[in-house]
Amino acid sequence: MNYRFGLIGYPIQHSLSPWIHKRFMEKTRSNGSYEKVEILPTEPFEDKLIQLKKERLDGFNVTVPYKQAIIPFLDEIDPTAWTIGAVNTVVNIDGKWKGYNTDGIGYVRSLQSKYPEWFAKAKKRALILGAGGAARGIFVALKHAGFAKIDIANRTLQNADSIIEISPQNAAALTFSDAKEKLQEYDVLIQTTSVGMKPSIEQSIIDLKDLHSVIASDIVYQPIKTTFLQQAEDNGLSIHYGHTMLLYQAQYAFEIWTGIKPSVIGMDEELQRILE
Ligand code: ATR
Repeated sequence: MNYRFGLIGYPIQHSLSPWIHKRFMEKTRSNGSYEKVEILPTEPFEDKLIQLKKERLDGFNVTVPYKQAIIPFLDEIDPTAWTIGAVNTVVNIDGKWKGYNTDGIGYVRSLQSKYPEWFAKAKKRALILGAGGAARGIFVALKHAGFAKIDIANRTLQNADSIIEISPQNAAALTFSDAKEKLQEYDVLIQTTSVGMKPSIEQSIIDLKDLHSVIASDIVYQPIKTTFLQQAEDNGLSIHYGHTMLLYQAQYAFEIWTGIKPSVIGMDEELQRILE
């Protein structure tokens, strides 16, 4: 088998997905390629996709700004991706495109792999900070993983509400000031906003002072240790890095394409070295 995979999006120059998938191919002793297909927002998307369909790729990833725009071009969509309303992985099944979303499951897998004993416990409570596309995927995946409570704090309350509506039981939309008052009620805080991302690296969405026994998790991975994670570490909290979500969302995508779950052993550290 000689696989042909790819990535569409813009900008994708610095994407780490080609590196990750080439490592997966090495690890699973499979042959193949993973090409970046940059589609400029000024280009006609439909024409580009007609061209892409002719390429007969076995599968491809979809990143910003096309995770929603791809949906009308799919022949089939996985129910979870449909609920999330965004697709980041497409598999070619006999010429038909089926779309999946591996971001949320990737996040949950990364958390489970870092804190397996904690993850096995019942009644876990999560607070998601931010209500964008990533938060939506994570909310749905945490629900599937059986979390007992999942609240969402966001600057624009309406955006948090629109995610909660997916599955409102044991879930609430909060303002940041409400959330600050009850941080100790959660077992994991999941930072999904762009605050703290390069170049605004000195910022943190919320103050973690006086907080104990909670996992602080950030999906931002540039910088690798955000101010949010640094503060958490300074307070003695457990931390969970964003680049691990990248790794596990790719693992699940590779699995969808090939039926093989590649080992990620050693790749967390390799990715850290690349990003540092
Ligand atoms: P992604 O797809 O990566 O989740 P996104 O959909 O653009 O990105 O979502 C960005 C998130 O960061 C949103 O929750 C946004 O808050 P709003 O819904 O209020 O816009 C949040 N965000 C971005 N800049 C922010 C800032 N300066 N302060 C607080 N929240 C911010």
